[in-house]
Amino acid sequence: MKRRMVKTLLIVGGGIEQVRAYELARELGLVVVGSDVDPSAPALRHAHHVLVASTRDAGATVAAARRFHKTVRRIDGVMTLANDVPLTVARVAAALGLPGNTVRTGEIASDKLLMKRVFEAAGVPVPPYRPVASPDEVREAIEAWGYPVVVKPVDGRGARGVLRLTPEVDVDWAFARAREISDRGEVLAEKFVPGLQLSTESMVYRGRCYTASWSERNYENLARFAPYIIEDGGVLPATLSPRMAAAVDDVVARAARAMGVTDGPVKGDIVLGPDGPVVIELAARLSGGYLCTDQIPLARGVDLVRQTIKVRLGEPLDPSDLAPEHRCYIGVRHFFPPPGRVTSVTGFEELLEEPWVVKAGLYTGPGDVVEPTSDHTKRAGFVFTRAETAAAAERLAVRAVERVRFEVEPLGTDPDG
Ligand SMILES: Nc1ncnc2c1ncn2[C@@H]1O[C@H](COP(=O)(O)OP(=O)(O)OP(=O)(O)O)[C@@H](O)[C@H]1O
Ligand SMILES: [Mg+2]
Repeated sequence: MKRRMVKTLLIVGGGIEQVRAYELARELGLVVVGSDVDPSAPALRHAHHVLVASTRDAGATVAAARRFHKTVRRIDGVMTLANDVPLTVARVAAALGLPGNTVRTGEIASDKLLMKRVFEAAGVPVPPYRPVASPDEVREAIEAWGYPVVVKPVDGRGARGVLRLTPEVDVDWAFARAREISDRGEVLAEKFVPGLQLSTESMVYRGRCYTASWSERNYENLARFAPYIIEDGGVLPATLSPRMAAAVDDVVARAARAMGVTDGPVKGDIVLGPDGPVVIELAARLSGGYLCTDQIPLARGVDLVRQTIKVRLGEPLDPSDLAPEHRCYIGVRHFFPPPGRVTSVTGFEELLEEPWVVKAGLYTGPGDVVEPTSDHTKRAGFVFTRAETAAAAERLAVRAVERVRFEVEPLGTDPDG
């Protein structure tokens, strides 16, 4: 049989944050297959072939991929980015015999309770946790650990239904809210670990974990958004002592190993607690928020999207491509307009002309309704700035956000009445 030279890559999900992976795959000369429930999803314009299947529906994605693989072209690799569907990707890889996480790893990555059990069994530090089946069990957890306690759906994403309980928060309401958001109707309680919050981005290659970047996540608005836990940007790279950086990298590596990730990207949510780094969770995928496509290449000189494409095609990586170097600091802030109907937005276009703004996006415009901020999907946009110091990068990001004005009229006011 003649050896086929051009490889085919399936990218699960065709959202705006995925465009870069499609473009890069084309630049690398690959045949690109994209899948999404919405055939007009923005990244699919860059695909050679489209499979219509919900990224959250593993069965449908596997069926579509299998059909394509058999009847159109052999698929050589499958990946995603900025899309929390590790089980879908793992199941496609297993069904077609492609490099990737095992289905077991995909299952662990999609269940916050199972993940904590796996980490605990492997000696990876996690917050005290317990599954809770009723508000009374949440009260028992509060009794045991003291306030604050976090409740969350075991299968949530984007911080939906993640609530920080303090004495003012109604426990019955919080439990019901977290449960309502869980597809499985299952809720997890955890002790809230105080300390610096980090997001880490790493590549595991042949069992070794190479951390490219740590971002410091800004939670100074915890009180404003309470009881919701809303991140308002941050700065990258985080300022860590070499000892702390090594300790963080070590827990990420151990967490990845415990989950069974031997090759592929992992994204950690880590808190530097009073007793050292604690793993809130580890996602077995590339992160969203344009971290891997924009922020990390600029600040750290590592292209995790390119490395993921290679590793998912079963190609060898060069560890020197995974070693970060310091290039600059990136400051990040989000837009949080007040709730209501937006009548005008001013100052955004001007921002894009500033040399220190590296990227900015706006999801909300005139006529849109802004809901109270209850999770990360409610953010109205973002700005990334670049500077020589962490403080300057953050200051610029704060200033940039202040320069954009949202005029909003309250909802439920009847202009004729
Ligand atoms: N036990 C905890 N202690 C301290 N902070 C926590 C705890 N649990 C959650 N958080 C904070 O809330 C954020 C969201 O929680 P979690 O990651 O469990 O939910 P998620 O829906 O996966 O959100 P995201 O998609 O933003 O990661 C965490 O990244 C962390 O910053
Ligand atoms: Mg998370």
